[in-house]
Amino acid sequence: MSPMAQKLFAAAALAPGALGANLLVSHFSGSLYSLSFTNSNSSGQLSITSETDGCGVTPAWLQLYSDINKVYCFDESWMGSGSSAEYDVAEDGSLTLTGNLKTTGNSVHGALYGGSDGKGFVATVEYTPSTLTTYKLPFPGGEQIGLETFTMESQGPNPRQDKPHPHEAHVDPTGKFIVVPDLGADLLRVFRINAETGELTACSEGQADPGDGPRHIVFWENAEGLQKAYVLNELGNSVSAWDVEYPAADEASGCLAFNKTQTLSTYEEGTTPGPTTKAAEIRIVGSFLYASNRADETFGDEQDSIATYTIDEQTGELAWLEAANSYSYYPRTFQFNTDGTLVAVGGQTSSNVAIIARDPATGKLGKLVANLQVGRKGRAGQEDGLSAVIWVQ
Ligand SMILES: *[C@@H]1O[C@H](CO)[C@@H](O)[C@H](O)[C@H]1NC(C)=O
Ligand SMILES: *[C@@H]1O[C@H](CO)[C@@H](O)[C@H](O)[C@H]1NC(C)=O
Repeated sequence: MSPMAQKLFAAAALAPGALGANLLVSHFSGSLYSLSFTNSNSSGQLSITSETDGCGVTPAWLQLYSDINKVYCFDESWMGSGSSAEYDVAEDGSLTLTGNLKTTGNSVHGALYGGSDGKGFVATVEYTPSTLTTYKLPFPGGEQIGLETFTMESQGPNPRQDKPHPHEAHVDPTGKFIVVPDLGADLLRVFRINAETGELTACSEGQADPGDGPRHIVFWENAEGLQKAYVLNELGNSVSAWDVEYPAADEASGCLAFNKTQTLSTYEEGTTPGPTTKAAEIRIVGSFLYASNRADETFGDEQDSIATYTIDEQTGELAWLEAANSYSYYPRTFQFNTDGTLVAVGGQTSSNVAIIARDPATGKLGKLVANLQVGRKGRAGQEDGLSAVIWVQ
């Protein structure tokens, strides 16, 4: 059976009006969890179906490639070495380790790129060593082919900007470039991919504002082909809209370029973020943008918010919509299901997965559909608790 036929078969086995899905969770304690979610008439249930390890001591990020039923996990261990891992994802969501890659550690994000199918190489970014590292696949035995160490001339205005801190290796929608938001240097670092060799060539950087602390980027395109990018600024507690310019199709050595056009707070006008708040994740569904806030407790004790914006279909301009309850404390990651009716939020310090309803017409997040604590809770402001949640889709 094809993966899609298998999914339909699995869904058909449930009661009428019910929906079934699997999720994957990484936890900073070293564990990876498979979760099952069932939803009957907007009353949902989450349960842990299996648990495994193999992604070093501090799994920080999960990257799923559902076309090949593989998930890649990146290890943030800061003890001088790490072990990124590759797993097969079974029909029931369980994971089987298929290979490890010995790394320098402290990887906060990674993604596959290049080759004939976009899966020839892997790029990882290391927060404190300030590096972008590339390896030739497959796992295991992946050979390191590149190491870029970032530098900057002077410290940034935020105390956390002591040196460059690359936070994501984002492959652009064409698969031809990697964009690295650098939280320490207030830059979008841009690299052109040589798909054959995996080699990366640096392009001009996009310049954020001093103290923004860019962490993650998402791309957007309207029906007329206008392209924009939106960046989550962890230190500035804001999101920025950027113009995007691609080189001409016949210009093989051209670069992807960015200009920042707008910055909006992750808080409603008139609300000032607290001293320990830090924005975390950014996601787009259609013409709505979402950004999570850590430690703002806008909705009460250990109940942080997700900022919601509308994107103007013609111009790509952002406008504030509302703050929604994330039903979690330190929502480090969140992801929408394919039809945009649910969001899975990973509370880092609360170490929970919250499934929240989304209204596709208004873009607004609504009621809590299901909630489950997964693994040990973390401590506020520490690198522990639940690191990431994704849907298997
Ligand atoms: C969901 O609601 C519909 C209509 O009320 C009902 O026919 C169906 O049996 C319900 N499904 C479940 C799984 O409860
Ligand atoms: C950025 O601005 C410069 C100067 O106005 C312009 O030449 C360039 O084309 C712009 N790039 C993008 C990506 O909008």
